[in-house]
Formats: sequence, structure tokens, C-alpha cells
Amino acid sequence: MFTILTGAQFGDEGKGKIIDVLSSDYDVVVRFQGGNNAGHTVIVGDDTYKLHLLPSGVLTDARLLIGPGVVVDPGVLLGEIKMLADMGIKITPEKLGIDAKTSIIMPYHIEMDKLREQKREKKIGTTARGIGFAYIDKISRDEVRLAELADKDAFSEIMNELAPQRERAIIDLGGDPGVVREGILDYARYGATLKPYITDVSYELNRALDSGGNVLAEGAQGAHLDIIHGTQKYVTSSSTIAGGACTYLGIGPTMVDQVIGVVKAYITRVGEGPLPTEQAGDAGDRLRDAGGEFGTTTGRPRRCGWFDAPLARKAAYLNAYTSIALTKLDVLTGLNPIRICTEYELDNERIDYPPELSSDLARCTPIYEEVEGWDQDISVAGMFSDLPDAAQDYVRKMGEILKVDVKMVSNGPKRNQIIVR
Ligand code: GDP
Ligand code: IMO
Ligand code: MG
Repeated sequence: MFTILTGAQFGDEGKGKIIDVLSSDYDVVVRFQGGNNAGHTVIVGDDTYKLHLLPSGVLTDARLLIGPGVVVDPGVLLGEIKMLADMGIKITPEKLGIDAKTSIIMPYHIEMDKLREQKREKKIGTTARGIGFAYIDKISRDEVRLAELADKDAFSEIMNELAPQRERAIIDLGGDPGVVREGILDYARYGATLKPYITDVSYELNRALDSGGNVLAEGAQGAHLDIIHGTQKYVTSSSTIAGGACTYLGIGPTMVDQVIGVVKAYITRVGEGPLPTEQAGDAGDRLRDAGGEFGTTTGRPRRCGWFDAPLARKAAYLNAYTSIALTKLDVLTGLNPIRICTEYELDNERIDYPPELSSDLARCTPIYEEVEGWDQDISVAGMFSDLPDAAQDYVRKMGEILKVDVKMVSNGPKRNQIIVR
């Protein structure tokens, strides 16, 4: 069975938690895109794991893979492996495999990301992790692949050619070119340490599927941060939607059995770009406080707003979900009434689907339906029938908007706070 799981909004929907819950049914969990711009939280017992590159199946017996479409900062990855080792979890090459063709995020990518963002008139609000510039080098075929990082001669040959070019680029952006050569010795060391983890991810996955195994592909970011279909230009640099998993992993589309969309019961966004239902005042503050809406990667406060049905409809089209995991329902407790944006008004017309351009989306006025809230603590509910009627109605409403069954409802950050319908 091949399952793809993606975020349906602007990231931080709670993908890490849902992956952790699902992983025990899978033989392999694989990240297919993005890099350490992602921050996926898994909470088990009293322990909190914030994962940026390792798949969120790390606490189960599943094999973990990082596919060739991911951009890897090797220092961050080794830091994550060490953090887990300190917590008693060993990430050996038997546990983790990284594709030989995975692009490496170099120090100059991070520097260029920061410098370019400072200069932009319209800021994107990137995570400053070098993601965009690492993907530029992949597309222009000037990347350093993991296999090359792990091969001293290949690495120095590439650096001899690239370093002067990258130094000039950094000078052009107004930065200090010293950064290009500074970290190179460290990087050669990282390459040697990561060498035993190198594998052919597409081959491993297809072999696993071929022999009846279960594979779970873990998306990072969310549908509206997609490089092509998102709210350009306020997006990330990879394909975040379900089709991207096939492309990045080298698995054919006819192999896909399930596509799970992770949807937050309201909406959040970090960084710039339109968010029609954003609540700057009281409601936004309550959602941020109750939901702990601060970035896992950068610590930035997340912008919060009411559930946005037009954006949800688009995410459902882009991904063709077979089921939904609805998260953070508990955060809505005590808000009465709850508002759902069902349509927008744009240029005196009502529309139920987002306009294609971000500049138009930014001009949309949300039209809200008010629904009844609830005051009971739902974080202890174990079954759907334990939820108050108003909460059950809210879940059903989400399913109707997305036109797909909500099969999982998450009612708290912990592994056991999950209702399966
Ligand atoms: P991801 O990037 O999609 O994996 O999401 P993040 O981990 O960045 O952010 C989700 C946050 O919400 C994390 O702090 C989770 O621990 C937390 N979380 C996940 N599901 C729930 C839930 O159902 N209720 C509450 N209150 N918190 C949740
Ligand atoms: P997870 O996987 C939320 C946002 C950034 C910025 C834009 C581009 O945890 O859901 P980038 O550094 O990727 O070039 O930044 O994308 N962004 C995220 N927002 N969750 C994420 O990941 C994100 N990864 C990137 O804030 O607006
Ligand atoms: Mg996150």
C-alpha cells in the first residue's frame, strides 16, 4: 500500500502528529520534498520531538528514508540524529537511508537566502534555511549531491568550479564572500559521516511496494505553499501536493492507494502572503494562545484565522484526497460562535473558489457562516460519539466542504488524542 500525506493549508497542520500515529502500520516512512524549513512535532508521553528532516515515523519500527527531492542541510540532519541519540533513539544506517542524489544545502545557499530576502521589496518571509537557493542549484544542475559530498575528490572538484561563482554572487547581493569557503572542511566531514546512509530511495520504495510492503510519504509545508499551485510568490520552492510525491520519489501514479489531507480546524500562516480570514484582533490571539501557534522552525508567531472553505476546496482539487485528518479541534473549544468562511466577495461577485492570483486573493472579503461552538473539554474524548453535538456537526461540515470523509479527528497534541471514525 502506498499512502501520501500532505498538508492542506499553509503548513503546520499537525502532519508530524498524524504521521506518528499512522506509522506503526507502515514499513517505510519517507520525506519527499522541502528541507529543514519544515518543523514537524511529535509528542509521546512527556517527550517532545521537533523534527526538521527526519521523517516523523522515527519513534516506530518503520524504516526511514529521505528522498532525492529533499534538500538536506547535513549539519542540521546530524544534529537531529544526535538529539535523538541523546534521547535514547539510535538512527543507524539500518534505520535511515538517504538518496545518493539528494541536494545538499550549502552555507552559501543560506547566506544568499538571507541576503536576497533583505533586498526584496515584497518580502516572502522565508525561513532563511537556504531552501530556495538549493532548489535553484538543483534545477540549474549545479547542485552538490550527497554522493558527491561523500566523495572527497568529487566534492573538491565541484567546489573548485563553483566557489568563485558563488563568491561573486554573494558580493553582488552585498554580502561577505568568506562564507563560501568557511564551512567547506566541516562539510567534507559531514559527507564522510553520512556516507553509510546512502541508498537508492526510488528502488527501495518500489521494491517494498512490489513485495506487498506499506509505504507512507510524508509531505512538508502545505498545498497553498506549492511552488506552482500555491499563493505565488509567497510560496516555498518545492511541489508540496500529492502528485509531487510521485515525481520526487520515482513512484508511478498508478501505485497510489491513499491520499490523506491534514487539515487544521482553523487556519494559520507563517511568513507573508494573503490570508483572507486572518484575525488580527481578539479571535486571532485566542487561537494563537490556545493552539500554541508559534513556528516550530523559526519561533515566529503564526498568523491565525477562521477556517477558509474556498482554500480547502482548492487543496482538495490539487490533491484528490481519499480521506482527511482534521487536527486541533480542541483549540476551538470555548469560541462561540465559531465562524467558517464559505465564500469570498471579489469585485461585487460571490465566489466559492480562490482566484488564481495572490494579488486577487488579497482583495477577497470573506463571507462567514456562524456555527454553534461548545464549552466542554473535548481533549479527553476517545470516540466520535463522546464529542458534543456542536463539535460533531463541525467535523461533518468540514467533510461536506472538502467532499471527502474526515476519518481522523485530532483533539490534542499527544499520540493518544486521536479519534478514528
Ligand atoms: P506540522 O508542521 O504540520 O507537522 O505541524 P507543527 O508540528 O509545526 O505544528 C502543529 C502543532 O500543533 C504542534 O505543536 C503539535 O504538537 C500541535 N498539535 C498537533 N495536533 C494537535 C491537536 O489536535 N490539538 C492541539 N492542541 N495541538 C496539536
Ligand atoms: P511544515 O512542514 C509553515 C513558509 C515560510 C515562508 C515560505 C517560504 O512545518 O508545515 P522557505 O524557507 O520555504 O523558502 O519559505 O514558506 N514555510 C512554512 N510555513 N510550515 C512550514 O513547514 C513551512 N516551510 C516553509 O514561512 O512563508
Ligand atoms: Mg511545522
